[in-house]
Amino acid sequence: MNDPERWDRMIANYEEQAHPFTELFSSAALASVPIGPETEVLDIATGIGAAALVAARRGARVLATDFSPGMVARVAAIGPANLRAEVMDGQALAIEDGRFDVTISMFGIMLFPDWRKGLREMARVTRPGGIAVLGTWKNEAGAATNLLLTEILCTRFPELALPTMPEGMTTLRDPARLRDEMVAAGFEAPAIAEVTHDFMLRLDILDDADRILGLMPHWTMLSAEQKMTAAAEIRRRADEAGTVDVLPIPSTALIAIARRRCT
Ligand SMILES: C[S@@+](CC[C@H](N)C(=O)[O-])C[C@H]1O[C@@H](n2cnc3c(N)ncnc32)[C@H](O)[C@@H]1O
Repeated sequence: MNDPERWDRMIANYEEQAHPFTELFSSAALASVPIGPETEVLDIATGIGAAALVAARRGARVLATDFSPGMVARVAAIGPANLRAEVMDGQALAIEDGRFDVTISMFGIMLFPDWRKGLREMARVTRPGGIAVLGTWKNEAGAATNLLLTEILCTRFPELALPTMPEGMTTLRDPARLRDEMVAAGFEAPAIAEVTHDFMLRLDILDDADRILGLMPHWTMLSAEQKMTAAAEIRRRADEAGTVDVLPIPSTALIAIARRRCT
């Protein structure tokens, strides 16, 4: 999670599979946030720009940042003229204090090794009275394929020690702690909402699972036999759900919206 090159290698898969899914959460998260042509918006750990593109479509002046040069290049290539993209570590933003009206990090800061520093950096660059939007997953195992695989492995192979999840993810999945950590970072009165969308897992990926899931520790840790069992279980669940080409995986995010404290 902490290696920009790893994220660089994920770009094609991320854009095809994860981005259309995370975009749904970004749209929901920003629906009630006042963003227009005069708004200066920062997206931290932008990925392919899910939140940045939503804000840019509303006319805002947007800076999309990520530590993966490949992700940043991709956003720069697809973004409109009012969206700039720069390589930046979210734990040490090269941005002056109070520069942005709205700061966003959807499923980004929660992954940082020093996620508290990431939250403080987000607060530092938000103008006093400005708005921060933070997205995390509600389930300890995250969302989408990771969530499904965790469920399957816990049931079918309870003896397996599963990969540990980042500390920020396990801490911020608790709404009370999410609220406390945002206040400690410099925000006030965070409002937290739950948003659920289905991740549509395409069953054809099982034909080429090693390539497509090859960067997921929950997959790469499995023996060939365990992979076959997991794939069979995914197909069984799709049969049970009555779906042909996809298995919907309901995934819930916590979305916190807070104001930067003035003093
Ligand atoms: C799960 S993706 C989320 C991307 C996007 N916000 C979305 O909603 O689709 C996590 C992103 O965090 C980025 N990232 C991870 N650690 C980072 C860090 N320390 N600084 C900046 N970006 C980071 C990764 O490169 C990746 O693009």
